[in-house]
Amino acid sequence: MSKAPRACVIGWPVEHSRSPAIHGYWLRQYGIDGAYEKEAVPPEDFAAFVSDLSAHGYVGANVTLPHKEAALRAAASADAAAEAIGAANTLWLDANGALQASNTDAYGFMTNLYAGAPRWRETCDVAMVLGAGGAARAVLYGLIEAGVSRILLTNRTVAKAETLAREFGAPVEVLPWESKESALSACGLLVNTTSLGMTGQPPLDIMVEALPQSAVVTDIVYVPLETALLAAARRRGLAAIDGLGMLLHQAVPGFERWFGLRPEVTPDLRAHVVATLGG
Ligand code: ATR
Repeated sequence: MSKAPRACVIGWPVEHSRSPAIHGYWLRQYGIDGAYEKEAVPPEDFAAFVSDLSAHGYVGANVTLPHKEAALRAAASADAAAEAIGAANTLWLDANGALQASNTDAYGFMTNLYAGAPRWRETCDVAMVLGAGGAARAVLYGLIEAGVSRILLTNRTVAKAETLAREFGAPVEVLPWESKESALSACGLLVNTTSLGMTGQPPLDIMVEALPQSAVVTDIVYVPLETALLAAARRRGLAAIDGLGMLLHQAVPGFERWFGLRPEVTPDLRAHVVATLGG
């Protein structure tokens, strides 16, 4: 009999990670004999830790801050999403024991978008993405894969947006942070990937009234679930999608790889994770 599979989330710190709540819920829900742990691993030990995942008793892992770029470097091979995004959040050992990497953040973002606004693509020729950090990279990858032909990227530090536009190529155009509102009337989708609006951070100040009535607004912030941005979008009658769904959906491919069953993102899972968020 083979041993019960174990996976973990590796971070530094790792205490804040919601992944154990998600995977723990699914393990119980599906009656799977397996485990999902938290591993606090400092950056200097990360490469050694993942090069010996099986010696630590794991079949795979999620990777969170600050290890996502190192996870890609440590892997023997990676999927197209991880290569393009330049970071990995999901690791597993293949049949030969080689470390494989994937980035499921773009999958999580897009699945959440389609779940909240199934027909978003029909009214979205132009999308606006706020922010140019790690999350923005995943969102850009997902939107380009979905065929969005113009993506207006805007960030407080313009140089970071310019770097991303060069990397991701033609669909991505940089817009000055100060004049982002002037382009909203052309946008079918607005995505906030900045930390603005998160509990403890300043609010995101943007006039959603300038968006067309068919626009979809989505925030990757999920604490609070209902950011001021989403509340303003809803008041205007726009479709508004919170960031928790992205977190839940990005966990699906890893769970399937490690535990052999594709889990479902249900309202009950969502309620379970919301209860762990507090505040
Ligand atoms: P993540 O990996 O979640 O994307 P990140 O790499 O720290 O996180 O990126 C945070 C994003 O929020 C950046 O786009 C950042 O803008 P800068 O590149 O100018 O730092 C944006 N951000 C954070 N605080 C901000 C603020 N007060 N005003 C505007 N943008 C802010």
